[in-house]
Amino acid sequence: MIGFSDAWQGVLADDWRPLDVTETRGILPRGGTILGTTRGSPLDTADGPQRVLDVLSRHRVDALIVIGGNGSLTVAEHLYREYGIPVLGVPKTIDNDVVGTDRTFGFATAVQVATDAIDRLHSTAESHDRVMVVELMGRHAGWIAAHAGIAGGATTVLVPERPYSLDRVAEAIRTRHLRGRYASIVVVAEGARAEGREAATGERPKDRFGHEILDGVGHAVGRAIADLTGFEARVVVLGHVQRGGTPVAEDRVLATRMGACVVDVAHSGQFGHMVALRGVEIAAVPLAEASGRTRVLDLSEFANIGSVTFG
Ligand code: F6P
Repeated sequence: MIGFSDAWQGVLADDWRPLDVTETRGILPRGGTILGTTRGSPLDTADGPQRVLDVLSRHRVDALIVIGGNGSLTVAEHLYREYGIPVLGVPKTIDNDVVGTDRTFGFATAVQVATDAIDRLHSTAESHDRVMVVELMGRHAGWIAAHAGIAGGATTVLVPERPYSLDRVAEAIRTRHLRGRYASIVVVAEGARAEGREAATGERPKDRFGHEILDGVGHAVGRAIADLTGFEARVVVLGHVQRGGTPVAEDRVLATRMGACVVDVAHSGQFGHMVALRGVEIAAVPLAEASGRTRVLDLSEFANIGSVTFG
């Protein structure tokens, strides 16, 4: 078993190291990746796929295991389909937005970190009678926001799946205060959009890797809440805090099960597949199921929860 450094960059540059027991000892409780990672892929240049094939054949690599979210898995599927590269996928992202698996590892930890942060924000919210707005990660799907929002007792959760109305958010906060309950928490996923023009125009500017540039929705929501309700509001952007540190047990178990399964799948030669959690089982599913798609929240699952509104 060898590991390439810095994702595809390491494959293209033939930069690798053995992944033996010495190298991997002690990584179970660590977040991040010991191999390092970068954006970019072999599909960015015309000769990229051939370079990957050359490097793999030089080391007589039988299977290339790609661990990542939608972007990485989409590239992996393409390399398998178009170039016959023997890839396998392992879905890993805090965003939990990979189609074909019920969970990605990283998600449970991010939700726990975000929930802990919200728990701590309740103190200021209650002591100062303020509205605390918390911006969490989630560009295309509001998994972290919804789960941490419910777990942390948020009044309102704003997610990319449903364009929000500031008037509705203000109304929810006013109603709560009229009932004598102060200290509202509003959770905003970074990719949430307001109803109307912004939602209708769709496209946002993109960076050089094709990722939409997000524009600080939490601060915009905080300002609007203060203006519309007259209540004091403060904004916290949790950012990369929720993507690091010690993983919770659930993520460690899921990662371990997926890792064990992908080795079995490699031995069976089922290339072009990824391992996935389906109910309680870990199964191999075609990468084509996940490729180019995003698994979004089904908000109807939360429709009967009266204590929280979704924008
Ligand atoms: O892994 C996806 C993600 O966590 C998104 O939720 C977030 O928008 C993005 O990564 C942040 O990426 P970067 O570290 O490049 O700022």
